[in-house]
Amino acid sequence: MTNDSWWSDAVVYQVYLRSFADGDGDGVGDLAGLRTRLGHLVDLGVDALWLNPCYVSPQRDHGYDIADYFAIDPTYGTTDDLVDLVAEAHRRGLRVLLDLVPNHCSTEHPWFREALGAPVGSQQRERFVLRDGRGPGGALPPNNWQSVFGGPAWTRLADGQWYLHSFDASQPDFNWRDASVRAYFEDVLRFWFGLGVDGFRIDVAHGLVVAEHLPDLPADGAVDRHPMWDQPEVHEIYRTWRRIAQEYRPDPKYFIGELWVDGTERLRPYLAPDELHQAFCFDLLVQPWDADRLAGAVRSGLATADELGAPAAWTLNNHDVHRVVSRYGQVQDLSAPDPQDLLAAARRTGPVDLAVGAARARAAVMLLLALPGSVYLYQGEELGLPEVLDLPDDVRQDPIWVRSGGRELGRDGCRVPLPWRADAPRLGFSDPTGAAPWLPAPDWFAGYAVDRQARDDGSFLALYRRLVRGRREVFAPGAPLRWVDHPDPAVLAFTRGAGLCLVNVGGDDLPLAPELEQAVVARSGTAGGLVRDSAVWIDTARVPGGLRSVAWDVPSGAGAPARA
Ligand code: GLC
Repeated sequence: MTNDSWWSDAVVYQVYLRSFADGDGDGVGDLAGLRTRLGHLVDLGVDALWLNPCYVSPQRDHGYDIADYFAIDPTYGTTDDLVDLVAEAHRRGLRVLLDLVPNHCSTEHPWFREALGAPVGSQQRERFVLRDGRGPGGALPPNNWQSVFGGPAWTRLADGQWYLHSFDASQPDFNWRDASVRAYFEDVLRFWFGLGVDGFRIDVAHGLVVAEHLPDLPADGAVDRHPMWDQPEVHEIYRTWRRIAQEYRPDPKYFIGELWVDGTERLRPYLAPDELHQAFCFDLLVQPWDADRLAGAVRSGLATADELGAPAAWTLNNHDVHRVVSRYGQVQDLSAPDPQDLLAAARRTGPVDLAVGAARARAAVMLLLALPGSVYLYQGEELGLPEVLDLPDDVRQDPIWVRSGGRELGRDGCRVPLPWRADAPRLGFSDPTGAAPWLPAPDWFAGYAVDRQARDDGSFLALYRRLVRGRREVFAPGAPLRWVDHPDPAVLAFTRGAGLCLVNVGGDDLPLAPELEQAVVARSGTAGGLVRDSAVWIDTARVPGGLRSVAWDVPSGAGAPARA
């Protein structure tokens, strides 16, 4: 398994461990469950898996609040289980990425506890961003920064000082200007790399360092550089990490950043050859189902990739947004320009037409898997799972739900345990004699179960398997994307090598010229032609006379879509 750019066109499957498969019957997914279900990933044909954080954690933000970076949380198994999982995954041809959370830890991390017991000005306090408050008695936070999860980014300690938390109050930010924090994370990297892990997804990779002197954010929010994010000093950290990654020969380790920065120029240094390998390209994920908007996102993602020399990492789903089937099944909001708070916009509520959403999601993944670069899939999207929007209030756990006082649903609805077996108790997720799953799956999840879909050639799962397994044969790895002029503005059309991808984004049902129809190698739906909200992959080598000879404007009647 050596190839130092395996990631450049990989399909990576994101495992939200607590919801994947429960091996020990405590109602929470774990490493044992994942191990027994690795075959699902192999059958899908993915190249790697990314595990959300599974280190010791009080689970206030389900693992993004870490109390011990050097050990697996007992709920998920042991460090030996992780080592076994990695070995088994490698045997089966899968790389394994972990999730690194360097911006903040948990209030239960021993360092934070030590800091609380240590005097103001002590080294133990230096590891966090602790400050006196403002106003009489220091009763006001040190500045006006807001937490991403809502409310002030500061919480007051019993001794009167305040600590910074960019997210939940249970997640104190590290002070990255402190040398011991830097040394600590270098040890963390070496520890997991030494156990065979192939790389890390870096959480909030534009965070870590905050502006010195902690300036207030102007009331109108207009700043060239937000003081909480994307500070220039973060780059020397990544340069050090990359040096560590390169120490592993012949198979250097890999980093992908979750980076929310403004524009290509801000991204540039993160993707310099001596920093991170890739950044998630969220441009497509945040767009409505609209041909111009999607084409614009593809163009900008590709332009960035070309300019920065780092292959794009496309994605439509993750554990932080509503599932794509539901997003595309809502009324598409085209009025807004690219939304300001992109993630919040991807968690909109409102009525959902699931049939429409499903057709669009199937077409969208054909677009995604035809693009140059790598693709990150989120568990359950291969089953076409919709967002569970009606979880009872009392089972919701997301800090976003809690901190917004229920105004925002948050992210629990995309984290519901996977349905494995339609007729099994608890849908085969966990042992029926054990504890109930940590989030209840609705009854209708049975219709999406893996076993049912595996027997149905028209299922989401069957489509995903065909596409993931077949994509490299249709679209030669490394081949550049070339747009094809299509007369219908609702159709995205491009080739890569001999592969042609056509996506009808909300247009009228269209026929396909017979010479194209007979060269179709994959399609998102069952109808012939290129009906509304569908996509096809075509092998142009099988088109007599090649693409130039194709009449795009097929007279209606000829080759008209036949609904199966
Ligand atoms: C990232 C994670 C999200 C987490 C947050 C705080 O955005 O993807 O799940 O809550 O960081 O760590």
